[in-house]
Formats: sequence, C-alpha cells, structure tokens
Amino acid sequence: MADSPEPGATKPQSGEVLREEFNRWAEAGRGEGMEQEHLPITLPVLEKMRLAAADNVLDVGCGAGWLSRRLAKHVPQGRVVGMDVSDEMIRCARRASVDVENLMFVTGEVEEIPWEPNFFAHAISVESSYYWRDPAAGIREIFRVLKSGGSARILINYYCENPHSHQWGDLLAVKTHLLSAAEWSELFRAAGFGEVQHERIADRSPTPDAYTGRWFRDAAQLRAFKAEGALLVHGVKQ
Ligand SMILES: C[S@@+](CC[C@H](N)C(=O)[O-])C[C@H]1O[C@@H](n2cnc3c(N)ncnc32)[C@H](O)[C@@H]1O
Repeated sequence: MADSPEPGATKPQSGEVLREEFNRWAEAGRGEGMEQEHLPITLPVLEKMRLAAADNVLDVGCGAGWLSRRLAKHVPQGRVVGMDVSDEMIRCARRASVDVENLMFVTGEVEEIPWEPNFFAHAISVESSYYWRDPAAGIREIFRVLKSGGSARILINYYCENPHSHQWGDLLAVKTHLLSAAEWSELFRAAGFGEVQHERIADRSPTPDAYTGRWFRDAAQLRAFKAEGALLVHGVKQ
C-alpha cells in the first residue's frame, strides 16, 4: 500500500455507504451508461479470457449487467453470475436480462461472495475494485470461489500510474483506493494467485474535440487518460 494517505481516505466506507451511493447511480441511469464508457477497454480483455462454452464466470461489481450478458453468450453451456453490492444495480441488471437463461444476478459484497468455493473458471471485475472496502479481502474471496486453474482479472482506470484519473478521488462521494500496478499485483500474490501479470489496455475509441463533463479538465486530458490506458491485473489459481 502507498505510504501517503490515499485520496478520499477520510470519507466513510461501509457496505451500506457503497450500496446507497451506487443505488443513486443506478436510479440516475448510470449503470447502463457505463457500457459505452467501458466497452473499448473491456473487449480486448474478453478476447484474452479465451472462454470455453461450458465455463462458469463471475462478474464482480457487475453494475447494470451489460458485461454479464456478453459473457453469457460466450458460455452457452456454462453459467454467468453477476454480483454487485447495489441492489438497484442488480434490479436493473435482472430487468434487462430476463431472456438470458444461463445468467443470474446476486446482491453481495466482494468481501463475502455469496457463492460456494471452487466453482468459477473465470472472474472478471471492471472498474469496481478501487471502491471495495477491503481490496485484499475481495481478492482472497475471488480466489476462494475460483476452481483450480481458474483465472481472475481486474480492470481499472483509477490507479497510480495514470495521473489523469487521480482527480476522481476528490470527486467521488465514497472512499477510493489509489494503488499502483505493483500493489494490486501483490494483493493477488498474497491471496494465493500465481502467474500474476499486469498490463495496460489503451482506450482507442475516438475522443470528441470538446469535453464538458466533470471527470477531466478538458478533451486533451481525456485523450491523455485514454492513451495511458486501463490497468489489467491477471492471476491464476494453481
Ligand atoms: C463504476 S461501477 C462499474 C460497473 C460495471 N462493472 C460496469 O463496467 O458498468 C462500480 C460497481 O462496483 C460495485 N461495487 C463497489 N464496491 C463493491 C463491493 N465491495 N462489492 C461488490 N460490488 C461493489 C458498485 O455497486 C458498482 O455497480
């Protein structure tokens, strides 16, 4: 962990605080909106997962479930479980997925995954892990529910080596963990994962000439952020 206090470290954090905040996001329709934002960095990761038709897959912090639905198409004989601390996100995810047979959604915190051990061939988490109350405990839980040979991936835009996202720590209403690639990798190793690796996934989608949102200073910073790319950390349960 970093020596200096993490941005947002004084903000309260509990499962309840997270649930309430992300319920507000869900009610504002932000769950669905994240598909467009996260798809350019997620598609290359889906390819890397090399899913087999009968794999069981866990989507941690699944939000409104767009990625879970994509995963379900790749594993027609397997099962996908989307899990999120926000019951409103889970409600949105279920509503949008009624016709997908091999997919279910559960409400829960990654620090205590409501699932049996040794079940999943893959776990993936997109833009969620820096919100977790206790990232070390979350990664240990993912290790527990993976079967031997199973792999875990976290994909995040908010990490030490991308300075163009650091302002989010002050903008977000909940506490965030700003860790380096080496620190996330160490959490994987400490949980028991082997073959731990990390890499950057650049966002190659076009950037508009003007930016008027609150997350970046201007379009130039958004462009720089996307070029730095998201951090992908990967480990295998051996
Ligand atoms: C930025 S959203 C990303 C959602 C989704 N992965 C996507 O890409 O659209 C972060 C999600 O992580 C969930 N989350 C945060 N902390 C969590 C925890 N401790 N356990 C489970 N889910 C969590 C939030 O409720 C929220 O839906």
